[in-house]
Amino acid sequence: MITVENLTKKFGDFEAVGGVSFTVKDHEIFGIVGPNGAGKSTIVKMLATILKPTSGKASILGMDINEKPQEIRKIIGYLPEEPRVYDYMSGNEYLELFAQLYDTNYDIRELVRFMGLEKHAGRKIGEYSKGLRQRLSVARALVNDPKLLILDEPTMGLDPASARDLREKVLQMRDAGRTIIMCTHYMEEADFLCDELAILDSGAVAAKGKPEDLKAAMSKTFFLKVVFDTESESLVSSLKAKRKGRNVIVPVKTIQEGTERILEQAKKAKAKILSIDTITPTLEDVFVKVTRKVEP
Ligand SMILES: Nc1ncnc2c1ncn2[C@@H]1O[C@H](COP(=O)(O)OP(=O)(O)O)[C@@H](O)[C@H]1O
Ligand SMILES: [Mg+2]
Repeated sequence: MITVENLTKKFGDFEAVGGVSFTVKDHEIFGIVGPNGAGKSTIVKMLATILKPTSGKASILGMDINEKPQEIRKIIGYLPEEPRVYDYMSGNEYLELFAQLYDTNYDIRELVRFMGLEKHAGRKIGEYSKGLRQRLSVARALVNDPKLLILDEPTMGLDPASARDLREKVLQMRDAGRTIIMCTHYMEEADFLCDELAILDSGAVAAKGKPEDLKAAMSKTFFLKVVFDTESESLVSSLKAKRKGRNVIVPVKTIQEGTERILEQAKKAKAKILSIDTITPTLEDVFVKVTRKVEP
């Protein structure tokens, strides 16, 4: 559905996005994740045809972003990082304005219901909380019934309940057949929502794949967390492990290999094992491993 090939964006001499490639399949949630300044927003602005790429190509449903920007805008919805709303309008007026601009007959009331705005749509936007504004902005992005929805940090700055609510809506939109590209710097959110993701670092893709596969690749060398009944440092070093408080963190190849080695060394040191746990890598561990710090 969406192919991105060697997409590059320079601002003057500064290369914000340097040759990024990925593909997004129909009806999936594709995450662009990475630290602040990685180039996430710049990429989606190019896809939303708001910024022109310096070089490289991208196409959405077979339409090139350079050649068919008008046609692309008709079939996509875009939630910018900082959506603009008009405080003096009511929610309904705001949505109707955009429905008219798009010349769409998509049912505004249905949209208001879907985003849980029934009680609020008659009120002035100026009275809305941050969470309500964001829900209205998402409704606005849906006003042309888009096949592709681009969400730039949709839950940033929302309280936990509103954020969870919005994540549920994103899943529902995917299940209703839309394709979604979302930027986020919250790893747990990416893990929960995304079918596929690209981890971006300093304008380049550092890793991509399914969250499970990225985590599995990370866990090729993983760790067992052991508590012994002794503080013996020679036991720790015989296991090539590190001590973290009571826990001894042992790098292992497999659980079998690791537990055998731990048992053997514990026996030699006449130590008792009080507990053993596996440490499962999170997407955040993957993220920290593949990205460098971009901001001092
Ligand atoms: N219009 C612009 N002019 C100059 N530099 C920009 C502009 N927009 C973004 N940048 C820079 O490009 C880099 C990537 O920005 P951005 O795509 O917003 O990152 P992210 O969304 O991942 O936080 C940052 O260093 C940012 O300062
Ligand atoms: Mg951004």
